[in-house]
Amino acid sequence: MPPTLNISDIHSLKRNEALEILARISRVEKKTFPTNEAFGFGEELWRKKPNTRVLYMTRAVEGRMSDLIAYAVYVRQKGTALLHKVCVVEAYRRQGVGQQLLSYIQERLRKEGCQYIQLWVDGAREPARTLYARSGFEEREVIPDYYAPGRTGIRMVLDLERDG
Ligand SMILES: CC(C)(COP(=O)(O)OP(=O)(O)OC[C@H]1O[C@@H](n2cnc3c(N)ncnc32)[C@H](O)[C@@H]1OP(=O)(O)O)[C@@H](O)C(=O)NCCC(=O)NCCS
Repeated sequence: MPPTLNISDIHSLKRNEALEILARISRVEKKTFPTNEAFGFGEELWRKKPNTRVLYMTRAVEGRMSDLIAYAVYVRQKGTALLHKVCVVEAYRRQGVGQQLLSYIQERLRKEGCQYIQLWVDGAREPARTLYARSGFEEREVIPDYYAPGRTGIRMVLDLERDG
């Protein structure tokens, strides 16, 4: 039987459970991104920031705590959601997980009446750029030295009404 994948929102957890998931996310974040780009997954993300959503994906494993396989962070600002982060744990990449998580986010935001999803991506992050383009995001702006000298930032936007 294929493993069961589950996507949840830390807002729906009790405080202790949310802190446990945030700590696990934080460990992956530190391994994946350079220190100055690592997002701080602190307690304030749970309930205190109602416009910020932290989603996480787990894979049920019999007899032990489920594995964390991916997470995403977005902030809702009226009709636009700013997608700050999408990350798949290295061992689970290239299996369609990123695409599944993005589809879930798109569907959820569309249902909630959001029109646009916007994000910035480093021009050198080819896997992420390809994933976003395949999910319907379009490149709208290119800013040289956006992240650091020599590191281009690309603004991408998905129109949920048009793609729905
Ligand atoms: C970008 C990332 C989220 C992709 O997740 P993933 O689960 O591996 O992606 P998927 O398996 O759903 O891939 C979907 C499509 O994206 C593209 N893609 C994904 N990884 C790729 C890679 N390494 N090289 C080229 N294309 C890639 C492919 O078109 C792929 O479809 P295919 O496998 O049928 O060819 C993952 O590589 C990651 O977490 N990277 C580090 C963090 C990061 O850069 N996040 C984005 C900025 S915040």
